[in-house]
Amino acid sequence: MKLQAVIFLNNIPSLLTVIIFLFLSFQTSTSFQNFLKRGSYLSVEDSSHVLTSPNKTFTCGFYDLGGDENAYWFSVWFTSSRDRTVVWMANRDRPANGQGSRVSLRRNGAMVLTDVDGTVIWMTNTTSTRADRAELLDSGNLVLKDMEGKILWQSFDFPTDTLLPSQYLTKNTKLISRLRSGNFGSGYYTFYFDNDNVLRLIYDGPDTSSVYWPNPDSDAFGNERTIYNNSRIAVLDDMGNFSSSDIFQFSAIDMGFGIKRRLTMDYDGNLRLYSLNVTGSWMVSWEALREKCNVHGICGRNGICVYTPEPKCSCPPGYAVTEPGNWNKGCKPKFNRTCSNTQKVKFIKLLHVDFYGYDLNYSETTSMDSCMKSCLDDCQCEAFSYRLTGQGVCFTKSVLLNGKRTPNFPGSIYLKFPANFEVSEPARLVGTDLVCPPTVSKIVIGSSSMYETAIKRVRWVYLYGFAIAIGAIEVIFFVSGDGDEEETELKRFVREVETKIQCKEDSWIEDVADPRMNGKFSKNQIATLVRIGISCVEGDRSKRPTMDSVVQALLECEAESEVVRPDKR
Ligand SMILES: *[C@@H]1O[C@H](CO)[C@@H](O)[C@H](O)[C@H]1NC(C)=O
Ligand SMILES: *[C@@H]1O[C@H](CO)[C@@H](O)[C@H](O)[C@H]1NC(C)=O
Ligand SMILES: *[C@@H]1O[C@H](CO)[C@@H](O)[C@H](O)[C@H]1NC(C)=O
Ligand SMILES: *[C@@H]1O[C@H](CO)[C@@H](O)[C@H](O)[C@H]1NC(C)=O
Ligand SMILES: *[C@@H]1O[C@H](CO)[C@@H](O)[C@H](O)[C@H]1NC(C)=O
Ligand SMILES: *[C@@H]1O[C@H](CO)[C@@H](O)[C@H](O)[C@H]1NC(C)=O
Ligand SMILES: *[C@@H]1O[C@H](CO)[C@@H](O)[C@H](O)[C@H]1NC(C)=O
Repeated sequence: MKLQAVIFLNNIPSLLTVIIFLFLSFQTSTSFQNFLKRGSYLSVEDSSHVLTSPNKTFTCGFYDLGGDENAYWFSVWFTSSRDRTVVWMANRDRPANGQGSRVSLRRNGAMVLTDVDGTVIWMTNTTSTRADRAELLDSGNLVLKDMEGKILWQSFDFPTDTLLPSQYLTKNTKLISRLRSGNFGSGYYTFYFDNDNVLRLIYDGPDTSSVYWPNPDSDAFGNERTIYNNSRIAVLDDMGNFSSSDIFQFSAIDMGFGIKRRLTMDYDGNLRLYSLNVTGSWMVSWEALREKCNVHGICGRNGICVYTPEPKCSCPPGYAVTEPGNWNKGCKPKFNRTCSNTQKVKFIKLLHVDFYGYDLNYSETTSMDSCMKSCLDDCQCEAFSYRLTGQGVCFTKSVLLNGKRTPNFPGSIYLKFPANFEVSEPARLVGTDLVCPPTVSKIVIGSSSMYETAIKRVRWVYLYGFAIAIGAIEVIFFVSGDGDEEETELKRFVREVETKIQCKEDSWIEDVADPRMNGKFSKNQIATLVRIGISCVEGDRSKRPTMDSVVQALLECEAESEVVRPDKR
C-alpha cells in the first residue's frame, strides 16, 4: 500500500479564537441591616442598600454581573466568597432593570419585586397576612415574620440551584441548574425526588429528558436506595453530612463544624458540595459523578463527550457544531438524511464511543453483520452500537444523544452516512474540544482519490480522516479502524518517517507529498505537520500531545514558515 500526504489550501480563515475575559473588581460600601420593615423597600440604584445576616455570612439585595448589562436579580449571596456566590434568586428568569426597580414589603404583607415601570416581576404568597418584617438569617434563609416572630414565608422553600446546610429538600422542592456560566436562567439539570421516592439527577432539555444519576442501568435497590420511604426529605447538616429518606447519604471530605458549605446543581450537570476556604474560594468536597461524561445531554444531539482528560464536547466526523459556544444544541449532520430504501449508505466506526438511550432494537446474540443489516433495513436507524461481549451485543439507535467516548467501553458506534457523502473534513482543532479526533486507531495519509481507494479496500466502511492545518496548508490523515495488513503497513511507514526525521533526512517529504503540489511547499512545515500527526496517534495514549501543545507547535510552525502558495485544487 502506498502512503501519501495531500497538502492543499486551507480556507478556514482563522484557527484560533482568543477569548479575553475582563475581570471587574467590585467594592461596595455596605451598611449593615438584617431586616426590612413592613412599608419599606430596597432600591436597585443604591448598592449599599442590602440586608446582612447577623454574623454577616450572607447578604441579600440586588445582584448584578458587573459590566454593561442592565440586569439585576433580587438575591442572597455569600458575603465573603470571592465572587459573591449567589445561593438564592427571586427572579432568575426575569432580571429587573438597573433603574427604578425595587423590592418592597407592602402594607398588605406581600414582598414584591417591581420593575422600572411598576410591573410586578415576583412576589411572595403572603398577601393579606400579618407579615411585619423581612429578615435574613445566618443560615442564608430570607424569611418573612409576623409581629410574634412566626415565619410566614421563607426562601428555603423556593430553592434555585443551591441547598444550604439545614435547608430541606422535599417533595415540593428541587434544585435546577443555571443555564451556563454567567447566565442565571433556569437550565437543564435538576436534582429532585422522583415519583418512586428516589433522589435523582435528570437532564430536562428542550426536546428530551433523561435520568443519569444514580446509574440508570440499575434499579433503586441496585443503587443502594429505597423506594419505600415516601417522606421524601433530604438535608445537609452543619457537619457536612447529607442524608436522604431514600437512604442515600454522603459526607464532605472535610467533614466537621465551622465550615461554610453549599450543595449546588451545577450547569455542567454535576451535583457538587463546596466548602469555602480562607481565601474566599470554593473547594469541591463531594460530587455526584466522577465520570463527567456520564451526564446526559451535555454535548447535545449527535455530540460526543470525550476526556482530554478534562471532559470536552466534540462532533463526529460528517457533523458540525450547531451553535458555536452552545453545546446543548449539539451537532448537525452535513448531509441530508432521507428515509428511502433506495439511498445507498455506508457506516463509519467510532471506537469506544457509545450513545445512551433511543434504542430501536436490542439483541445480545447478534453477529456484526446482522447488527449492521438491522440498521440498514430500518431507515429510522441513524447508527448501531456493537460490542463483542458475550455473543455480540447490538443496539440500533433512532436518535444520537448522550454520546461519550470511554476507553474502557468494549465496543464501537457505527454511524450511518449516505454512501456518496465524503467524510473527510478536518477534525475541529478550533475551540476547546478535543486533543486528537475521537478514535484514531491508525493513520493512513492520503489524497482524496486515495481515500476512495482506501474506502474500497476496507469494504466501503469504517473509514474517516482528520486534518491538521497551518495557515494555508492542511494535511489530511485518513484513519481507518480495520485490517491488519494496513496496520503493519502503517507502522512501517511511521517507523520509516520517524527514523528519517531523527536523521534529519527530508527526502521522504517529496515521497509523501501530493504530486499536484508541484514541489511548492515548505519542507519544514510538512515535516512538523507529519510529526504532529504521528504523535497524535502514538500507541501509548499518555505520550500523545495535549491540545495546548499541538496549538503551540502549529503557531510556532506558522511563524517560522516561508509563505508558500500551493496550487489550488
Ligand atoms: C406559601 O407557599 C409555601 C410553599 O408552597 C407554603 O408552605 C405556605 O403555606 C404558603 N403561604 C401562604 C400564606 O399561602
Ligand atoms: C454564622 O452563623 C452560621 C449559622 O449559625 C454558622 O454556620 C457560621 O459559622 C457563622 N459564621 C460566623 C462567621 O460566625
Ligand atoms: C456523618 O457521617 C459519618 C459517616 O457517614 C458518620 O460516621 C457520622 O456519625 C455522621 N455525623 C453526624 C453528626 O451525623
Ligand atoms: C423515612 O425517612 C425519614 C427521613 O430520613 C426518617 O426520619 C424516617 O425514619 C424514615 N422512615 C422509615 C419508615 O424508615
Ligand atoms: C483555596 O481554594 C483555592 C481554589 O480551590 C485553592 O487554589 C487555594 O489553594 C485554597 N487555599 C487554601 C488556603 O486552602
Ligand atoms: C439538503 O437538502 C436541502 C433542501 O433539499 C438542500 O438545500 C441542501 O443543499 C442539501 N444539503 C446537502 C448537504 O446535500
Ligand atoms: C428486533 O430484533 C429481532 C431479532 O433480533 C426481530 O425479530 C424483531 O422483529 C426486531 N424488532 C423490531 C421492532 O425491529
